[in-house]
Amino acid sequence: MKIYVPRDAAARALGSDAVAEALATEIRERDIDATVVRNGSRGMIWLEPLVEIEEDGRRLAYGPVTAEEVPALLDGTLETLGSVEEIPFFARQNRLTFARVGLIDPLDLADYEAHGGLAGLHRALGMTAEAIVDEVKSSGLRGRGGAGFPTGIKWDTVRLAQADRKYIVCNADEGDSGTFADRMIMEGDPFTLIEGMIVAGLATGATKGYVYLRSEYPDAIDVMSQAVRIARDAGVLGASVLGSGHAFDMEIRVGAGAYVCGEETSLLNSLEGKRGVVRAKPPLPALEGFLGKPTVVNNVISLATVPVIFENGAQHYADFGLGRSRGTIPVQIAGNVKHGGLFETAFGMSLGDLVEGIGGGTATDRPVKAVQVGGPLGAYFPPSKFGTPFGYEEFDGEGGLIGHAGVVVFDDTADMLGMARFAMEFCAIESCGKCTPCRIGAVRGVETIDRIGRGDTDAIPLLTDLCETMKDGSLCALGGFTPYPVMSALTHFPDDFATAKEAAE
Ligand SMILES: Cc1cc2nc3c(=O)[nH]c(=O)nc-3n(C[C@H](O)[C@H](O)[C@H](O)COP(=O)(O)O)c2cc1C
Ligand code: SF4
Repeated sequence: MKIYVPRDAAARALGSDAVAEALATEIRERDIDATVVRNGSRGMIWLEPLVEIEEDGRRLAYGPVTAEEVPALLDGTLETLGSVEEIPFFARQNRLTFARVGLIDPLDLADYEAHGGLAGLHRALGMTAEAIVDEVKSSGLRGRGGAGFPTGIKWDTVRLAQADRKYIVCNADEGDSGTFADRMIMEGDPFTLIEGMIVAGLATGATKGYVYLRSEYPDAIDVMSQAVRIARDAGVLGASVLGSGHAFDMEIRVGAGAYVCGEETSLLNSLEGKRGVVRAKPPLPALEGFLGKPTVVNNVISLATVPVIFENGAQHYADFGLGRSRGTIPVQIAGNVKHGGLFETAFGMSLGDLVEGIGGGTATDRPVKAVQVGGPLGAYFPPSKFGTPFGYEEFDGEGGLIGHAGVVVFDDTADMLGMARFAMEFCAIESCGKCTPCRIGAVRGVETIDRIGRGDTDAIPLLTDLCETMKDGSLCALGGFTPYPVMSALTHFPDDFATAKEAAE
């Protein structure tokens, strides 16, 4: 018998370690032939700790399980949820990038291979660098870190650059509010990221990779560090990847925690041991990146999706999706929502379906007032825009952005003037200080919103004007996109700004 108890940080926060300990004790005392596997999370956070028991080829789920319920679990008297694959939240997904997360032992390389791992790398090793890049281009994969830039084109720029050294840098800073996909894949299927980074190395001629991982993710740091060691010992990483003669090795580097260090040039400065300040572009990191050398900077999900593209072929991946948004997107549903978690789906599902149909509406059972998509720089969507399909262009057309696909739900008690103020305050605190529209503008933004809050609605045109300046004049998207949450709150929830005046009168 195999018993799966997630080691994912969210599951641990909900008590999975105590469940695993109770299981170990009971197994010993009852002298049962059972092994406890610490897997990744299946992504249904409201069911964590979600325990699965595999016996006679069947894998049944239970959850949330408490340590006190462990005896009943082993007695067979605890009610099962059936197989995870039959739970509607899971059954409606298209799991490509996350196919193995929660299914396998994250640090068992043989388990990884038994579930399709390394198949993509083996295929890529038989291809030229140009053919690898073409495959990524054909898949339609776009950067999942926020900007949605085509991954194949970025790789081609690095491939064609002439230099004695090139680098692959994985952006695992995951600073967006309500996002956890990077963390979940690093904790649940770390070899997928390693494999994707090696393929990126083969495509570009880079022989060294770094994962820039935020210090707030100690579990991911631990799992990734162990996985790199295991991969190196097995010859997957090193002077000759899988005996191919191609070299690729990598290191995990831990960031000290600043939202702006997720911005790629600021990240590179931090990786070089400097202050995390944004660099002016050009030059692009693809031409002059880490230590001035051509560098691919890609998000965790972008890189971790590469293995499945090579395993099943670019066309298989490109067949999913909508318009220019090809493949799947791991949507992270969070905030005031009944069924929060990770939902990987082909692009195209409507926002309303995700929030109401999949997420089950608010946890407080009150009406949904707003949904912020794309992290702290994303727009607030009112229910009237719930028909918007999940796609880069579709969200852009509605004055929003997908970002890292975090969806944060708010009920009707949310104060949208307060949320607009929070966006400006966040920008003021996290600003790297390099350019004036952001460094000064965000502070003036907080002051202006406070004026509106005190009933001075004449300050609204000033706020709009300030947002335009920040949008047009900021050096990076921190200052440039903060107007999105501010202006969307003002546009879609004008009453919250007007009520402030009424309250003041
Ligand atoms: C303020 C700011 C924060 C960002 N934070 C992240 C982050 O945490 N993770 C990430 O992958 N990209 C982040 N980005 C986007 C990166 O600059 C960059 O576009 C991305 O890492 C490129 O990878 P991709 O093409 O695979 O998306 C951020 C951008 C800005 C402006
Ligand atoms: S917009 Fe803000 S974070 Fe970006 S470079 Fe300017 S000051 Fe720095």
